[in-house]
Amino acid sequence: MINDIIQISKEAGELIRNAFGKTHSVEFKTNELNLVTETDKASEKLITDFIKKKCPTHGILAEEGSDLNKSAEYLWVIDPLDGTTNFAHGLPIFSVSIGLQKNGETIAGVVYDVMRDVVFLAEKNNGSFKNGKRINVNKNANLGHGMLVTGFPYDIRENPDKAFERFIEFLKHARAIRRLGSAAIDLCYIANGVFDGFWEVSLHPWDLCAGKLIVEEAGGIVTDFDGNVIDIYTKRILATNGIIHKRMIDVMRRI
Ligand code: IPD
Ligand code: CA
Ligand code: CA
Repeated sequence: MINDIIQISKEAGELIRNAFGKTHSVEFKTNELNLVTETDKASEKLITDFIKKKCPTHGILAEEGSDLNKSAEYLWVIDPLDGTTNFAHGLPIFSVSIGLQKNGETIAGVVYDVMRDVVFLAEKNNGSFKNGKRINVNKNANLGHGMLVTGFPYDIRENPDKAFERFIEFLKHARAIRRLGSAAIDLCYIANGVFDGFWEVSLHPWDLCAGKLIVEEAGGIVTDFDGNVIDIYTKRILATNGIIHKRMIDVMRRI
């Protein structure tokens, strides 16, 4: 199955790459911060057509609305283009994220970093890989030496959920903070040891499903802001190398 996920992620990535830099029809979803292009939809159609043909009994949960049989034994959780704002503005940081669940447990995940042509993948109990090479979280125990990454929700103006305060607090405690604009790539960069910690207040299952498994199989931890075990429907996400996890929870409790 993992080879099927890789294949369709790369096909969707090629579609996105061919559309990158061209003029897009951009629509607003919930507000003018929250965009969708025809490429998000075309990528989703490519992926879901593949699944429907190859695995007709499987369920689908995808960002642009292709929901199907979500109580099926196998559920594909799909972000057809993670990083739409980057894509629409010509910034080459975006991905295709596909997770596969069996009875509610994620058993495989692929994040395809489209413009770098990098496949991150994990299978349950079988480790995480970047273009075929095993990856691991880093061993940094000092938040002050750490580089963190975060993202902001599209409804931040109406519902900030202390995102500004939390960002300021981490600026005081970490070496650096980045905001890449693709949560799935953020998580993969925890998994390969580049970033030490990631937090965000309002993620969706398609942002999280594949990346969470990739972090965990690389030796990291993914919880809510209180350190509780989560599923892919949890909104407030903290992912770290495991070693600085508690320290990041302590910093968040200060605000
Ligand atoms: C968004 C990106 C971004 C994150 C947002 C997501 P989209 O996904 O992952 O990094 O901060 O919360 O919604 O809309 O580009 O698929
Ligand atoms: Ca997304
Ligand atoms: Ca998306």
